[in-house]
Amino acid sequence: MSTLLTDRDEHVVTLTLNRPDKLNALNDELLTELGRATLEFAHDPTVRCVIVTGAGDKAFAAGADIAAMSEMTPVQAKQFADAGHRLGLALELAHFPVIAAVNGFALGGGCEIALCCDFIYASDRAKLGQPEVNLGVMPGFGGTQRLARRVGAARARELCMTGDVLTADEALRIGLVNAVVPHAELLPKVREVGKKIASKGPLAVAAVKRAILRGADVPLPTANELEATAFAALFGTHDQREGMKAFLEKRPAKFEGR
Ligand code: COA
Repeated sequence: MSTLLTDRDEHVVTLTLNRPDKLNALNDELLTELGRATLEFAHDPTVRCVIVTGAGDKAFAAGADIAAMSEMTPVQAKQFADAGHRLGLALELAHFPVIAAVNGFALGGGCEIALCCDFIYASDRAKLGQPEVNLGVMPGFGGTQRLARRVGAARARELCMTGDVLTADEALRIGLVNAVVPHAELLPKVREVGKKIASKGPLAVAAVKRAILRGADVPLPTANELEATAFAALFGTHDQREGMKAFLEKRPAKFEGR
């Protein structure tokens, strides 16, 4: 059975991590399948939003697979961490926004995958955290870095050092998740957000994604210059002409991603 399920509704793809009996723990196979699917869709300009969620009622992903990690040498651990980082980059560099629909435990590597997504919506049953220190290790798929950038260094230190697990409401309070939704409504709600994004100018949405990602790592004047250049580039597109013409003609725009 595949460790990743793919479901497509027009421009919106849902990827479901599928090892429910192991709370969707991330092993090599699952990381590879998720990476492969992300790269495949990155070649498809008709994909305008991807949702990542977990199979079953309990977990998004309860972490990297502890059984697999327990036997790893340092070299294998580095290869495993590198695979997680490659996946993170694929999610971040794809032209489409990726929304994490966190339907339960998002611990360790599960929380780190959610952090590679553009933003997170959580079920009211979700639990998020970086409990690796309980196992004598630390986050290895970018948790110390992306968590610090998302919620601030002090909160990231506290979470990664105590291993404390947050409820959905606590995660909302510190800005780790954007919204908390009743459990049964999570996927419908995230799909609604996905469809809304997919109805916008896709090149503009991709440019927003890239500007926010790249802008975060450079000084503000450079980041603003990046933004201005990306803004200008959109004026060479069909979608800019169509979007503004449609507004002036008081009709909905028909965006084509060109
Ligand atoms: N890696 C491998 N297997 C995992 C796993 C992980 N990260 N998390 C859960 N599982 C497996 C369990 O071993 C169990 O398998 P089994 O039925 O073959 O014994 C199954 O998933 C169900 O988990 P279980 O612990 O019985 O569920 P629970 O509801 O009692 O507890 C958690 C849920 C999330 C609190 C608990 O599974 C847990 O602490 N997981 C590890 C979290 C973690 O440390 N993640 C970071 C890893 S770096």
